[in-house]
Amino acid sequence: METKIVSPTSKNIALCSDELRAGGLVAFPTETVYGLGANALDERAVKSIYDAKGRPGDNPLIVHLFDRAQIQEYAAEVPAYAEALIREFMPGPLTLVLKKKAVIPDCVTGKMGTIAVRLPSHPVARLLLRACNLPVCAPSANTSTKPSPTTAKHVLADLGGKLPYILDGGSCKIGVESTILDVSGTQPRLLRLGGVPCEELEKRLGQLEIVKSSDVPLCPGMKYKHYAPKAEVLFSAYYGGMHETICARYDRLVEVGKNPVILCLHANLGRYGDRNCMDVGQSYDEYAHNLFYDLRLADERRFNVVIAEGVEDTGIGAAIINRLVKASGGQII
Ligand code: TXA
Ligand code: MG
Repeated sequence: METKIVSPTSKNIALCSDELRAGGLVAFPTETVYGLGANALDERAVKSIYDAKGRPGDNPLIVHLFDRAQIQEYAAEVPAYAEALIREFMPGPLTLVLKKKAVIPDCVTGKMGTIAVRLPSHPVARLLLRACNLPVCAPSANTSTKPSPTTAKHVLADLGGKLPYILDGGSCKIGVESTILDVSGTQPRLLRLGGVPCEELEKRLGQLEIVKSSDVPLCPGMKYKHYAPKAEVLFSAYYGGMHETICARYDRLVEVGKNPVILCLHANLGRYGDRNCMDVGQSYDEYAHNLFYDLRLADERRFNVVIAEGVEDTGIGAAIINRLVKASGGQII
């Protein structure tokens, strides 16, 4: 199958909407990362997502909706505190896990008895969801274990030949996936750090229990290898002496014949002398925006080790740390 990257004209939105309605796959941009969408009510279409990604079948999918009112169609129960979050954060980079209704097939939800729902705010995602008028399940549109795609070209590189259309919405603003909050029990639990900082949720909910990756199968995706480029990834803890540690490790890697690159904030470039660096931007928001992009770029540029600067564990920084811990397989220097 030929895969085309198409611009989001009304004609192409209609084409992609028809494709979804006919049981096909369409990749589309969201404000977090690109998603690989299928009709969540069509089991065959859902299964083709798992095949295309090489995704383990027990890892459930997030259902993407256009309208807040649709949540009631698929969720059996929405607690009052979740209603307030829906009003405040949706559309946006927040996914809620709720008790599910039977209408959503088990192959979407991994037989969890719950459903993860999200209303993306990206205008192209919204145009597509409105046009097809379906619940669209969509994981990140990468091959399993690869960094999530933040451009249409990333999707093509991973999934080219496996779907007809990739809607091009430019590069995803946030760059890391949505925050996942489980509101299916009596207490809310944070299953994945992401686009909505934990502190924002805690302002409304009080201190949140953050579920560790080891507490599977609450969020089954967290147990798998993730976000890994071909290059080995090392990641520094954030502390005063971080830059010296990174330089020393870089120099040792060069001595043993490696070709490393440092991912660093713009302001820190000067600390690394003439060592190879990739500038991730001026702020943590820019670091998040560029992280997956730069991990892929490091492979393209044939670096074989990426040393990523650590950040403070606040705001979007917490999501950056979480992705780096996973990309590095926990190799923290
Ligand atoms: O930003 C995002 O959330 C992106 C865009 C495309 O919307 N999507 C995304 O999907 O990151 P994916 O499949 O790559 O990650 C979804 C995560 C997985 O770790 C999965 O285990 C978890 O959500 N998940 C899905 N349904 C769940 C459920 N019912 N209960 C607990 N975890 C669930
Ligand atoms: Mg993913």
